[in-house]
Amino acid sequence: MISREQNDLITRTGAAAPLGRLMRQYWQPVALAVELQGARPLRPVRLMGQDLVLFRDQAGRLALIDRDCPHRGADLAYGRLENGGLRCPFHGWLFDVGGNCLEMPGEPDGGGALCQRVKQKTYPVVERSGIIWGYLGAGEPPAFPDFDCFIAPDSHVFAFKGHMACNWLQALEVGIDPAHASFLHRFEEDESVGGSNTYGRQFRAASMGSDIPMTTLLREFPRPDIDVHPVPWGLRLFSRRRIDSARTHLRVTNLIFPNAFLIPLSGEMTITQWHVPVDDTSNYWYAIFTSFGGPVDKKTMTEQRLDLYQLPDYKPRLGRHNEWGYDAAEQRTKTFTGMGFDINVHDQWACESQGPIADRTREHLGTTDKAIIANRRLLVKAIEQAASGERPPMVLDRASAAGMTGPATMDAIGPTDGWETFWPEIDRKRRDAAPWKRSAA
Ligand code: FES
Ligand SMILES: [Fe+2]
Repeated sequence: MISREQNDLITRTGAAAPLGRLMRQYWQPVALAVELQGARPLRPVRLMGQDLVLFRDQAGRLALIDRDCPHRGADLAYGRLENGGLRCPFHGWLFDVGGNCLEMPGEPDGGGALCQRVKQKTYPVVERSGIIWGYLGAGEPPAFPDFDCFIAPDSHVFAFKGHMACNWLQALEVGIDPAHASFLHRFEEDESVGGSNTYGRQFRAASMGSDIPMTTLLREFPRPDIDVHPVPWGLRLFSRRRIDSARTHLRVTNLIFPNAFLIPLSGEMTITQWHVPVDDTSNYWYAIFTSFGGPVDKKTMTEQRLDLYQLPDYKPRLGRHNEWGYDAAEQRTKTFTGMGFDINVHDQWACESQGPIADRTREHLGTTDKAIIANRRLLVKAIEQAASGERPPMVLDRASAAGMTGPATMDAIGPTDGWETFWPEIDRKRRDAAPWKRSAA
């Protein structure tokens, strides 16, 4: 339980808010690269309460600019991509990717001195691993770490996104809560293991090193021992479910400060997922799926996800408006939630049903919430660092970014004694076998 002021401090990301100043020191996803493919490479985007336009000019250069025209504020998202820039449809002022005004066709002499003086605000923008990233902060943006999801080749990464109607932090907190899977994602019937369609069925395959379905394991061992360790990129979480004196299920996940986590999806695949504030009451998750095995099948992965998410806004078909698909009969017999078999829907309900901004003055945290508590402490400390001009964690220069690799993550059944040395071995083997291998931190 925290005070209303503390809750505001760690949830609100407007440009003037202390957290807003911190979050603007990091690259943030603004769109999927595929969103700029097609006949008109332009998307309006909203990030931390700021309205922007993302586009590519005819030369293929990316731009991220303020959405309101500097003439009289008309909406540049309806602009014309022509003549080397973006032209406002109201009076035809033309801006290039640097925000320079190139033409004022209705003014005497085409603009002249006024044209020189007017500049639209622009922000650094870059494409990495299927995502377009923007930087809304002051000064130079930080370097990207050499994480797997950023160094794996395009053939081995797949990016997707989805909308959530709630504050970014409660969405992130689900990702660092290892206990919920035993309940929220519980299925009463086990599936045969080893099927190829793992979409939305993260907890239905077998855990590595066993033929026990994850569904059985999570159902029968609902009380994990959770350890949380500070690491240079944020936090590392160990959650152990002891099966017997010989065998323990171990899941190792990571919080990547300030708004991402990294979890294993399968023996071959990891998910690095950001929760990006659109404003204070909605966020997009952006995920990079990284394969340590064969190339990813982007077409199939996209089609599977479009069952739930609709274009062009990547809003889910299920939500508060239709009770997330809730079915009381299903809840009695098949699933813990009554909301179907796609775990993404379960997580969405868990995040959104807390309300637009979770009221943390009314919560009661338990032992299994220790990563959530540790993360809030990190966040408060970093907000203070940002406010006093110190460098917060993960605002990296190139040298420190190059040393930041991995991070290692895994999900497997191993020995009850000696799990500490067992798990890095599993990660190392997978990494050594990857076609683009890199040692992990
Ligand atoms: S408002 Fe954009 S050109 Fe006039
Ligand atoms: Fe979940």
